[in-house]
Amino acid sequence: MNIPETIDRNRLPQHIAIIMDGNGRWAKERGEDRVYGHYEGVVSVREIVDACGALGIGYLTLYAFSSENWNRPKAEVDALMELLVNTIRREVDDLNRNNVRMHVIGHFESLPEACQTELQEAIDITANNTGLNLVLALSYGSRDEIARAARLIAEKVAAGTLKPEDVNDDVLAQHLYTHAFPDPELMIRTSGEHRISNFLMYQLAYAELYFTNVHWPDFRQQNLYDALHNYQQRERRFGKTSDQIQTTKPDHA
Ligand code: IPE
Ligand code: IPE
Ligand code: MG
Repeated sequence: MNIPETIDRNRLPQHIAIIMDGNGRWAKERGEDRVYGHYEGVVSVREIVDACGALGIGYLTLYAFSSENWNRPKAEVDALMELLVNTIRREVDDLNRNNVRMHVIGHFESLPEACQTELQEAIDITANNTGLNLVLALSYGSRDEIARAARLIAEKVAAGTLKPEDVNDDVLAQHLYTHAFPDPELMIRTSGEHRISNFLMYQLAYAELYFTNVHWPDFRQQNLYDALHNYQQRERRFGKTSDQIQTTKPDHA
């Protein structure tokens, strides 16, 4: 895998999150059923997972199915769930060989049982891997996640194990599905939509947002490199002034 010289390997994001959008439109443009776009989207997933592994990225979170996607026609939902089971079954050995560790965030219990079983197996098989952490967001919604965190915190407060005055943003973050992961520094959305669609709203507070018109089934390694190059041109200020950032820049920046 040839990583372009335009990318500084010392300044890669630790965590990339992607809203993989545009499968349906990609298929429609070809006169095909939307589900065909989802099948082709899996090819992109494989390529981007490989590319992130080769770059040494720590975490890749892929938005694969939102809590709102349950409202799609049943035939499409069923096809997506079947695709999920078949893909995990087919790919798990390769993922394991490539030292990828799999995680799932979202309302796991609402997935069909066959999906839960297949996913749990993949999570268990890859649990000791130390390479890329591949986080699949499934039946995931940020509002649900934050409400769930509030509920867990409320239960602790009610039980007397947590004081209301000790609840701060760190405590909230510790009760999100993502408690074990760093926040994404880069969020990519394909297919020209400029919105968050209930994805990691809390965790993306300081992420750089990158939007491309490319539909997800056309998204290839080069598109990822373009996003990373663009990310590396940006100055991440975190509320400070540009001058403050310039004087604290590490040597390699
Ligand atoms: C993203 O592609 C995949 C899922 C949401 C599961 P879409 O299915 O949203 O494709 P468009 O946006 O309708 O083209
Ligand atoms: C977001 O895409 C969810 C996933 C990519 C899984 P959608 O296509 O469902 O989002 P909206 O409906 O355009 O906001
Ligand atoms: Mg869409």
